[in-house]
Amino acid sequence: MKPVYAHIAVVGTGAMGRGIAQIAAQAGSTVTLYDTQPAAMAAAQQAITSQWDKLLEKGRMDAATVAACKARLQCASTLADLASCDLVVEAIVERLEVKAALFAQLEEIVRPDAVLASNTSSLSITAIAAKLKHPQRVAGYHFFNPVPLMKVVEVIAGLKTESTVCTGLSEYARQMGHTPVTAQDTPGFIVNHAGRGYGTEALRIVSEGVADFATIDRILKDQAGFKLGPFELMDLTALDVSHPVMESIYHQYYEEPRYRPSVITAQRLAGGMVGRKVGEGFYRYDNNVAQVPPEPPVPQVQDMPPVWVSPRAARRAELLQLLKDLGAKIETGQSPSMHALTLVAPLGFDITTVAVVERLDPARTVGIDMLIDDAATKRRVLATNPATRADMRDAAHALFARDGKAVSVIRDSGGFVTQRVVATIVNIATDICQQRICTPADLETAVTLGLGYPLGPLAMGNLYGPTNVLEVLFNMQTVYGDTRYRPSPWLRRRGAIGLSLLHEEE
Ligand code: NAI
Repeated sequence: MKPVYAHIAVVGTGAMGRGIAQIAAQAGSTVTLYDTQPAAMAAAQQAITSQWDKLLEKGRMDAATVAACKARLQCASTLADLASCDLVVEAIVERLEVKAALFAQLEEIVRPDAVLASNTSSLSITAIAAKLKHPQRVAGYHFFNPVPLMKVVEVIAGLKTESTVCTGLSEYARQMGHTPVTAQDTPGFIVNHAGRGYGTEALRIVSEGVADFATIDRILKDQAGFKLGPFELMDLTALDVSHPVMESIYHQYYEEPRYRPSVITAQRLAGGMVGRKVGEGFYRYDNNVAQVPPEPPVPQVQDMPPVWVSPRAARRAELLQLLKDLGAKIETGQSPSMHALTLVAPLGFDITTVAVVERLDPARTVGIDMLIDDAATKRRVLATNPATRADMRDAAHALFARDGKAVSVIRDSGGFVTQRVVATIVNIATDICQQRICTPADLETAVTLGLGYPLGPLAMGNLYGPTNVLEVLFNMQTVYGDTRYRPSPWLRRRGAIGLSLLHEEE
């Protein structure tokens, strides 16, 4: 297969540049490395060749291919050596004026039809290209770390980029074994924009004192199937990387409340507790192993009270069946008896409000999150309100743990942990569709491959019910009186008919 670009250059041979160079050489291109630090260039060449040696050892590449790849990889002594390149991918320091100056220099060196691509994750492609003679040949080509394993790349057109440039880069991405997604030149493009919901909402929950880091991580992994909890993820990425991204996207969107960062990460960054790489983040690491606090034990309850379930509970029939399966004594009267544990299952509303509106005794009222089908989760989440008696809380905890399923008890807030985080992810994602930053199909691909979520946000919204997600958001908007939870018009309009209308051309 003939590569779209026979000869490419990678300028900036750090973590990203070397990954890009590796997969480009594997796709059959001649690859020239250039870095202002000659030592970095030599280290990159060494690292890439040893990667190929490892792939050979593991039998993933054969000896002839490895030899051919090595022969195609070379280092330049000066920028002028890049004159014959068909494509230059820039992966240097993330500073607009430095990138713009490099591209201006490259314009004087490469052919007028050579493509100039930037691996920037946060700068505007339009701004990088603004002062060039030929801005139409500049595009974003945003890979993820580590490049050979993260099989997605965002292809971004600046305002003046010619569409053929993006078509060529997309085709080349496929030749490198990656999936291209096309994004408009907007802050965070797709992946870093769509990723705002997960950590930011989890941080808000912590900041409200509703649950601690470890509990939130457990809930999101066990209920919604995320591979890593938001705090485990932030520890892995490290706050010196992720906190500035949160701030940058928030400011670039002119302080849009949906993206508001948290003082928690600002303070922890200032204190140097940035994550796994320094041995301390949200968790402490001993020999690189997170020290996770143990779960609170299931309380011993002698006299289990009867249970009454609010007629307005979400998934009420399922909840009643679950209680039956757990051997609960269920009350069927119109209102709970004097002794009954009173269960409510709101979407978005806090337990206190529900108890007041439904005229229930708050001291005996406990909430359960029924957004997700109980059979599909590995954990049940209960919430108290400020008046809930300890015996009622313990009874609910013991009852729902009877079959051995894990139970977390959190404090009251608008929306449970999973409801809040899922609704925020879906809302931000549908807003990305609304803004036409990318197609719904590319959004799903970018998020599953770039963020490793169990499902794309639209599929997630569909699975848990678009009307449920909308209900969570509407009610949270009421509880918090904050526009950050206002549903995107895209979500509001599609709420009733399903989110994954991927064939829709709008
Ligand atoms: P890095 O610090 O590992 O490597 C940057 C390299 O560029 C260094 O070797 C440096 O000597 C060289 N360099 C700096 N200025 C230069 C210039 N004017 N000309 C030639 N070489 C120059 O950085 P990293 O992490 O590889 O990031 C590179 C770019 O990729 C940045 O724009 C970053 O935002 C972006 N990016 C980084 C990701 C990551 O996870 N590290 C993910 C996606 C994008």
